[in-house]
Amino acid sequence: MIKKWFYILLFPLFLLSGYLIINHIKYPEVRWNWDQIDETVLDFPKGFQWGVATSAHQVEGNSINNWSRWEEGNFQDGLPHIHEGEKSGIASDHWKRFKEDILLIKELGVDVYRFSVEWSKIEPEEGLFSKKAIQHYQEVCDALLSAGIKPVITLHHFTNPLWFEDLGAFEKEENIKYFTRFSEFVFEELNAKVEKWCTINEPAVYTSQGYFNGVFPPGKKDPQLAGVVMKNLLLAHTRVYNLLKSHRNGKKHQIGIVKNIFPFDPFNRWNPLDWFVSRTLDEVFNQGALDYFITGNFEFNMPGMNKVVFNDPSVIKSLDFIGLNNYSHQRVKSQFSLNNFFRFQFYDDEEMTDMPYPIYPEAIYRSIKRVSAIGKPIIITENGVADKSDTIRPKYIDRYLFAVSKAIDEGANIKGYYYWTLMDNFEWSEGYAMKFGLYEVDFKNQKRTLREGSKHYIDIISKF
Ligand code: BGC
Repeated sequence: MIKKWFYILLFPLFLLSGYLIINHIKYPEVRWNWDQIDETVLDFPKGFQWGVATSAHQVEGNSINNWSRWEEGNFQDGLPHIHEGEKSGIASDHWKRFKEDILLIKELGVDVYRFSVEWSKIEPEEGLFSKKAIQHYQEVCDALLSAGIKPVITLHHFTNPLWFEDLGAFEKEENIKYFTRFSEFVFEELNAKVEKWCTINEPAVYTSQGYFNGVFPPGKKDPQLAGVVMKNLLLAHTRVYNLLKSHRNGKKHQIGIVKNIFPFDPFNRWNPLDWFVSRTLDEVFNQGALDYFITGNFEFNMPGMNKVVFNDPSVIKSLDFIGLNNYSHQRVKSQFSLNNFFRFQFYDDEEMTDMPYPIYPEAIYRSIKRVSAIGKPIIITENGVADKSDTIRPKYIDRYLFAVSKAIDEGANIKGYYYWTLMDNFEWSEGYAMKFGLYEVDFKNQKRTLREGSKHYIDIISKF
């Protein structure tokens, strides 16, 4: 009898240790000994494209969209949606100053400028396209081309026109048609000047921040709806891809999506709950979209919701490249609380950036390995650091580029690297507090000054 109970009790323990051991082996947290690494030894292939990236709402100024409306509001506890109640306002005034800014881009020595077009300016009312706005972007492209810099356009970078937001944006599959029509219009007008196109920036960030954490518009906390929005964003990508590729000039263009990867690691590698939560988050926000492009199957599944699933084998071909954004990793600690069953917490010895995550260059290396499984060329479409004091920027640049170079040495098919970002800007819910810019912006007079730490990027580019 005692023997039987002994085995019954032992069985779950056996299962639990199996679960821990498998996770340990399958998902190692890569850590390099930086004391033994010479991060100045870099190797980038001939033709590697260096770039710098921005997004319209963060730099242009005077946008009237879902974000400008969100900036006006408060959470239920009375705290403003944006840090210190800031508003994007004229932002870095890039709309007016783009010509000077392009000279600044040129001074960096980069080959590429990735920027987004602001849908709310181009189509301020449903079906009404602004000649003036599209002409503006034509001028931006012309100015870039005459400076010898290739424009790379992002069609959707977090912002929606108000009319689209009010129709339910990407919550409804039938709304995708508005985005495809807009994309087709922009492509028709700009395809003669632009070769590379990013359809949607970071579907998982749009979804998790807007529909799971509720800190981006529309500020909902609804995992079920998050799954639907994520599915619709991926569908929107595929539809735009197919539509633009079928354009008479489509074949000449390269079209991809921009996928962010933030590896989720457990706080305590011997705690099964930390593992369970970090694996669930990782599947939903990192792996789900990758699997979709690899297998054509999409699955969004979290405890307490009905799975969102769909299958579309045609998607496997719907990428000419994959854009990868990576900044760091997240460390997940499970907790017994009804409101929130986990929190992000880092170790004391992790060196933090001004954003709530550490310098962890191995994250970009791990992320490259993961997106490589799609089998398409990779472009690092964003990577950079918020560092107001400009003390850790050089280290960040050196070490992350070392990690990229190491991945290339090991066979990763990486075609380019675009630094985030050109100049200080409106960092979404963080307002103007985060200083990601290679150029510092004095928002009182819009003066731009190259940061000392940014010279590391210029030096590296000049060598390859
Ligand atoms: C976004 C950018 C943002 C950057 C830094 C990315 O998730 O695409 O718009 O500014 O991260 O937080």
